[in-house]
Amino acid sequence: MEEMKSSIYPKEKDKMYELVCKQMEGLLEAENHWLSGLSNASAILKAALEEVNWAGFYIMNEGSLLLGPFQGNIACVRITLGSGVCGTAAQKDEILVIENVHEFQGHIPCDCASNAEIVLPIHVNGQVVAVLDIDSPKFSRFDEEDRKGLECFVKMLESKVNFIGIKGSDKE
Ligand code: SME
Repeated sequence: MEEMKSSIYPKEKDKMYELVCKQMEGLLEAENHWLSGLSNASAILKAALEEVNWAGFYIMNEGSLLLGPFQGNIACVRITLGSGVCGTAAQKDEILVIENVHEFQGHIPCDCASNAEIVLPIHVNGQVVAVLDIDSPKFSRFDEEDRKGLECFVKMLESKVNFIGIKGSDKE
């Protein structure tokens, strides 16, 4: 029998992203440490976004990306800058929207269910301190609305989260 899944999040993407941002901002008002903040951020995104099998963060650590808080299957622990979708997004400091990960040269497969991916760099003082990575089993899952909604979400994280201890962050 198919699992019945109810969601508190609206179907319309603009309204869904609005609620996701508000919810996250509320949580960050109580505690803004990156570890708890990004943990709840990955839980919110995984719950709110449809057809997503992995949502989480890689953190800049000693010159490469280290697996951070996430929701989904176990994942690659360390990614060199310039490798895979995450390492390329971090190195180029660009948002990458990949319609078909199997056509992306150097894609690092973690969950074999993933077919599409979006990666957004997160900055403090103009430096990339982390990336947000979201995977979907649906080809071309992430459209312009997702890109805009997630860009807005990441901007909010950049202004509200305390990235203490991460190289390039404010209060290292
Ligand atoms: N596919 C990513 C690796 C991380 S997992 O998707 C969680 C990449 O190519 O960088």
